[in-house]
This record gives sequence, C-alpha cells and structure tokens, in this order.
Amino acid sequence: MDRLRINGGKRLEGVARISGAKNAALPMLAATLLADGEHTVTNVPDLADVRTMLRLLGRIGAYGERGNGRGRHRVTVEVSTDIDPVAEYDLVKTMRASVLVLGPLLARHGRARVSLPGGCAIGARPIDLHLQGLSALGANIRLAHGYVEAKARRLKGGRFVFDTVTVTGTENVLMAAVLAKGTSVLENCAREPEVVELARALVTMGARIEGIGTETMVVRGVEKDALSPMKRAICPDRIEAGTLAIATAITGGDVTLTECEPRHLDALTEKLREAGAEISSLEGSMRVKGPPRPCSVDMRTTPYPGFPTDMQAQLMALCSIANGSSVISEQVFENRFMHVSELGRMGANVRVDGHTAHVKGVERLSGAPVMATDLRASASLVLAGLRAEGSTIVQRVYHLDRGYERLEAKLRKLGADIRRLRQ
Ligand code: UD1
Repeated sequence: MDRLRINGGKRLEGVARISGAKNAALPMLAATLLADGEHTVTNVPDLADVRTMLRLLGRIGAYGERGNGRGRHRVTVEVSTDIDPVAEYDLVKTMRASVLVLGPLLARHGRARVSLPGGCAIGARPIDLHLQGLSALGANIRLAHGYVEAKARRLKGGRFVFDTVTVTGTENVLMAAVLAKGTSVLENCAREPEVVELARALVTMGARIEGIGTETMVVRGVEKDALSPMKRAICPDRIEAGTLAIATAITGGDVTLTECEPRHLDALTEKLREAGAEISSLEGSMRVKGPPRPCSVDMRTTPYPGFPTDMQAQLMALCSIANGSSVISEQVFENRFMHVSELGRMGANVRVDGHTAHVKGVERLSGAPVMATDLRASASLVLAGLRAEGSTIVQRVYHLDRGYERLEAKLRKLGADIRRLRQ
C-alpha cells in the first residue's frame, strides 16, 4: 500500500488547476444509462472512484473509454439496449455511489438488481430514502440476499418528500423520474452544485425538469426515445479547491486556484476569512493568502449552501494550529471524527463530545506516522503534515486516490515537500 511522506513547514506558493468534480462525474456517468448511443463527458477526473464507476458500467454492458495523454479527461460511454441491469456487491462495497445506477436502470429497463452498500467508515449511511422515493414513483422493491431488487414496467409520476436532505438520493430519484409517465414533484431535494449539474445535464439530454437548484424539482416524464446521449463537461471540484485553499491557509502561503468555481465555496471562504486569510475571487479563479497563524473559527456542517461535511476534517486541521479554541459540529454524518485521534498523534488538542469537537489550538504540530480511515480524513492529515514540524507519513493513501487527482503532484508544484512511497 502506498504511503505519503511529508516534510512540513514549507509555505505553498503558485498556481494550481482544479480538476473536475468526482461527485458530479459519478452521477453523470450513471445517467448515461438513460439513453442509448455514444455519450461524451469531458473534464472527468482520473480517480479510483471514476474507474470503479466505469468498471460497473462496463459490467452492465455500457462500455466507457477514457482518452489518452492530453485527452485523458474525456470519457465516452457507449450504451445499447443489450444490458445486464446488475450492480454486484464487490463493486458496490468499494464505492457506495454505485447505487446511483439503480434509478436509471429501473427507469430505462424496468428492472435493476443492486447490492446494498452496507455500513461504511462514516456511519450506517442507509439508502432507505432512495428506495422510498423510487417506490413513490411506482417501483416494486424487494430486499433479498443483500440486494435491492426493483421492478416497474414503467414508473409513474408521483410526489415524494425527502425526509432528510440526501445528495445521491435526490440524484437517483431525479434520474428515475425523467422517464416516468406523468409529472413528479420531488421536495426537500439536495441543492448541492453536483445535483444542479446532473439536472442540467439531464435537460440537455431531453429531460424536462423545473426548479433546478431549489428544494422542489418538478419533473415532467418523457418517452425513452425523447432522450439523446449526453455531451457535457464536468464542473470543477469544489472540495478539491477547498482542500487546496485550506492547504494554503495552513501554511501561510499564497496560491491562486484556477478553473474553479468560487461561488460554490462561499461557506468555506467565509470561514477562511474569519481565520485571517485574504481571499480574492475572479471569474473562475480564486487567490488565497494565508495568515502566519490562523485564528480559531466555529463551524457546523449542513447541506449546501451550508458548510460541507466533506471539508470538516480539513478545516479541523487548520483549527488545530489556530490561536484560540474552535467548536466544530458535524450535523450531516453520525460518525465523522475518525481523523481526531490521528490529529492527536501529531499534537492536536481535540475533545469530541457526541457530534461536536472542541479544538484547542496548539502552537505547533509534530510530524508522525498516521493512518486515515476515509477520503477526507486522509486529506486533513496531509494538511496537518504540511504544517507540522518534521516528517509525517500518511498511510493508506488509496483513500486519497479515490477522490483527489494527483494531490501530491499539485502540492509539490506549490512547493510542498511531499513524496509518494510506493510499495
Ligand atoms: C454525498 C457525497 C459525499 C458527501 C455527502 C454529504 C457523492 C457521491 N457523495 O454522499 O461526498 O459527504 O453527499 O454531502 O455525491 N441518509 C439517509 N437515508 C438515505 C440517504 C441518506 O438517512 O436514504 C442520510 C445519511 O446517512 C446522512 C445524510 O442522509 O446522514 C446525508 O447523506 P447523503 O447526502 O445521502 O450522502 P451521499 O449522497 O451518500
């Protein structure tokens, strides 16, 4: 298993280009299953999770291919009627977002068999709302042998209120509603930029969706042959941009992020300014100048446009060396503080009480061997390593590789002393 070795204390400076968003690419690739023909998606990040989605589509019978060299961010997916609408456990267990094929398969082919994802490192994460939403559109759903078996000759428009705001749940039900007979009204939808991107991509394919970007989406179902293949670019990854912005702030650096969407980062930039960073945004780029030592900030995670749970661990790394005490409240997931004990091994002073972490800033962190248990927790340990004195070894880098495209190469270009140790 690869590891990263970071010798901390280097100030980040320069320009970093932001990649396409993982969480937009995954639903868009799943959405290709809604229409036969050749789909072209550009700005697709080259990541383990995207490779998993392409493998899953391939097993279903929709063959995806990534370009070479400079064209490697371009993916074509060839979809035909000859498919096997199954997502096996071996792939779903490595990536929960595999469940995103359920809605499109059911809507397009009338049946789907998708493994239940099971527990994961950040809590139970059920998919009950995905299933309830599909049932509200007339699907017949049965759980058997660890699989969801869904059937519907043709889905029917219906009304569904999501009990909790769920990103992939909204995406799954939205994709299904596109081909339902009649009108569907989906309420309390997630408004994350990635949901908006998916909805816009569906509209370019021929779907009829109103209320995109709001809590209520109204979907007027269309016939199968009204949909055509997608040609679409993936939006910039706001979580990667946010992670690099915090990396800049934590090292007191000066970095310009290009090909990003600053509007998607408002909740983070507000917190970084409070912490003492200077931030200036232009169309498609953002410059971050970090303070010598950040001030403490309080934060609670909520669905978009609130502060993203996917940036909680990284902000905690910043708070761990802040001047003062911070209170961080995790409201989206039940068990998302696994980075706390590892940050503690680097000298951070964090006490967890239920959904709240109390972070007492220390003057310095010290490098240590650490091990991450999920994607964003790994990112937070890398950020702490950039600031720490001495050498930090981050183990289990495969978590990072799931969601960050060449993170260490981007950080090295900005002046970080970071190397991948291959095994
Ligand atoms: C997506 C993102 C993930 C991000 C998360 C929250 C993708 C591929 N992943 O994950 O990076 O951290 O949104 O912004 O886009 N819930 C239920 N029942 C359901 C579905 C969800 O109770 O059927 C709960 C979850 O347990 C969690 C909350 O709803 O507490 C939000 O989760 P959700 O938005 O569904 O996360 P994902 O879509 O899995």
